[in-house]
Amino acid sequence: AVEERPANPSATAADRPIGFGRIQRKEDPRFVRGKGHYLDDFVLPGMLHGAILRSPMAHARLVSIDTTEALAHPKVHAVITGKDLEGLNLAWAPTLSADVQAVLATDKVRFQGQEVAFVIADDRYSARDALELIDVEYEDLPPVVDARRALDPGAPVIRDDKEGQTDNHIFDWEAGDAAETDAVFATADVVVKQEMVYPRVHPAPMETCGAIADYEPIDGKLTLYETTQAPHAHRTLFAMVAGIPEHKIRIISPDIGGGFGNKVGIYPGYILAVVGSIVTGKPVKWVEDRSENLMSTSFARDYIMTGEVAATKEGKILAVRTNVLADHGAFNATAQPTKYPAGFFHIFTGSYDLQAAHCKVTGVYTNKAPGGVAYACSFRVTEAVYLVERMVDILAAKLEMDPAELRLKNFIRPEQFPYANKTGWEYDSGDYEPTMRLSMQMAGYDELRREQAEKRARGELMGIGVAFFTETVGAGPRKHMDIVGLGMADGAEVRVHPTGKAVVRLSVQSQGQGHETTFAQIVAEELGIPPEDIDVVHGDTDQTPFGLGTYGSRSTPVSGAAVALTARKIKDKARAIAAAMLETRPEDLEWEKGRWYVKGDPSVGKTIQEIALGAHGTVALPEGIDGNLDAEVCYDPPNLTFPFGAYICVVDIDKGTGKVHVRRFIAVDDCGTRINPMIIEGQVHGGLTDGVGMALMEFIGFDEQGNCLGGSFMDYLIPTAMEVPDWETGHTVTPSPHHPIGAKGIGESATVGSPPAVVNAVVDALAPFGIHHMDMPCTPARVWEAMQGRPTPP
Ligand code: CDP
Repeated sequence: AVEERPANPSATAADRPIGFGRIQRKEDPRFVRGKGHYLDDFVLPGMLHGAILRSPMAHARLVSIDTTEALAHPKVHAVITGKDLEGLNLAWAPTLSADVQAVLATDKVRFQGQEVAFVIADDRYSARDALELIDVEYEDLPPVVDARRALDPGAPVIRDDKEGQTDNHIFDWEAGDAAETDAVFATADVVVKQEMVYPRVHPAPMETCGAIADYEPIDGKLTLYETTQAPHAHRTLFAMVAGIPEHKIRIISPDIGGGFGNKVGIYPGYILAVVGSIVTGKPVKWVEDRSENLMSTSFARDYIMTGEVAATKEGKILAVRTNVLADHGAFNATAQPTKYPAGFFHIFTGSYDLQAAHCKVTGVYTNKAPGGVAYACSFRVTEAVYLVERMVDILAAKLEMDPAELRLKNFIRPEQFPYANKTGWEYDSGDYEPTMRLSMQMAGYDELRREQAEKRARGELMGIGVAFFTETVGAGPRKHMDIVGLGMADGAEVRVHPTGKAVVRLSVQSQGQGHETTFAQIVAEELGIPPEDIDVVHGDTDQTPFGLGTYGSRSTPVSGAAVALTARKIKDKARAIAAAMLETRPEDLEWEKGRWYVKGDPSVGKTIQEIALGAHGTVALPEGIDGNLDAEVCYDPPNLTFPFGAYICVVDIDKGTGKVHVRRFIAVDDCGTRINPMIIEGQVHGGLTDGVGMALMEFIGFDEQGNCLGGSFMDYLIPTAMEVPDWETGHTVTPSPHHPIGAKGIGESATVGSPPAVVNAVVDALAPFGIHHMDMPCTPARVWEAMQGRPTPP
């Protein structure tokens, strides 16, 4: 049970909560005063600037590259091509999905925007000018743009660089029991089926990707400033790829202006900055511009899914099955645990108690940018939740049942937890009905339905969309999950200095989520040291313990657990030291937040601050206790955590233009124990905005030649405050039974749960037209075409 305290910015330090609660973000004073340090803020002495020449074609043979004129530019220091990298054995780099990706093209270009050459110059402008002096001759090849055509006989083979690759097939992957599922479908009263596309979108963080490499040849040390969500994993991978010993690599990931999965992968630009620094002997900075970010570094989604649901005529859902065609672009560079090529898509059974389930996912190459990152989601959970939540609505329409009632009828019941679903997950805890009911109560659900009926009678288009999601976040455990062989665990280190002030060192990396506040709060809750007396250090591999990093909402489930257990180790050590100081036995002491005292005599005790001084002082320490108040843990999570939520979206559609107006959005989330409700609300607001964007406007499209149509913010629309309503948030608390403080992740819940709520609302509004599905983004043009009875344009 966690008490929530009202925000009270004027409270004195003594009044502020020690531990969990609504406190203001410790990192914000530097951000709001313009004192954050983002990658592009760093200027190293003698630093040069790199720029990448990118392919204008989606598929073409490289005939020749002439760099003579560029090299003659007075401010250019070097021009690097794929041929140069071949000499260093660096032309191709391994991806996070057991494939290889061209760092600079050597034989062909395989997507528009692919890296072809790297210019290093005195300044960014000269580097960009010199790109135009490079003469590249291409020989056109037919591109594969539509994933549905990728496996056609005779389709151009994109990856002819791979020995034995004779088509565009990457993998087939299955979960669940096909035969058992088919048997349930064969006897079901009702079956509904729908093809749906989760289109290609982009995480589009406010800060684009970049790196500054500083290779010091005398001691052989590489310092790499990098926009990365996973500094430690990057260090190991750089050691493996570049052959630089790992202890000679220091990755510094400074303040990061949003990641959302975009900053997990290792991009050619990072590697080129390192090569550039080695070649020139100077630090080299590379920062991509917005178009480069949107066109080349890591898209998300791009799943073509066929879903089917089998149910009784009374509305009991029996089974779900799905076939997915996954467009992975030109190189398989998706980022997810090794054993799961489709990420955690097999959570597509959702929040429902099913008899059977089966999914099959086929991955294909196309002439598009590589990636497939977990954009604000835990490895394809977003696609899975969208599929099942759209299918449940389609079933509700078929059965003429209320979609909220249909969900309530099929939820996994509280007594069934821990719940083993049909595709191999064990949901840790859940109590779905109260969450659903709270969202309906906040929305005034029955009243909304009455209003809708009245409006429909008048010919107005109002829609109410319901979605319920269960996520799976906090990867490991390490025995089941790894990234290129590195087990998914995270370290934490806490040091309490003699004066009782503490430092926490984390392996995870904040990209804006407020870790400097919430991780201090975890220590504060455990040890009673005020959060303002605790500094959180992250983003520097020379200063922090090893761990796999921040993506898939794994920081709190994994690293948060590591921090809590580290603090508990310190608490135990403090007990032994306090006993020595009080000349009593540890078992005679009792804990209250921030203090060990003698059982039965609360006036005799030692505060954690006094104990810290004692630990570093002259008191004779007990046998086996060393003279500090420090501890370290590497946490291997026993399971993931399964946060959930109920979302209700209300839309009005303009009949004349097809414009969707999101009038209300009610989001009730359950992330177990809540560390900082204000930060949680911020995470939810951001995720909901993202979800409305994906549902209504975000889209990376391509024309028939493979030209990217979403390469700038003029074409790739993201929502602003104008397009979103005032969010109405609520919560329930169902702690995780296996997490030391009962917390589940929250960072990505809203991005996962909101797109189906919005689309369900749009489709609900369009029901009078006989429409049962429409693909995202529900732009005015698409909605309008659908109202005219025409298929939605791609
Ligand atoms: O991995 P990432 O930080 O993106 O996601 P997260 O672990 O879900 O945490 C996002 C932010 O919300 C962090 O500052 C968390 O500590 C905070 N949070 C919280 O206050 N209570 C929770 N139960 C979960 C997260």
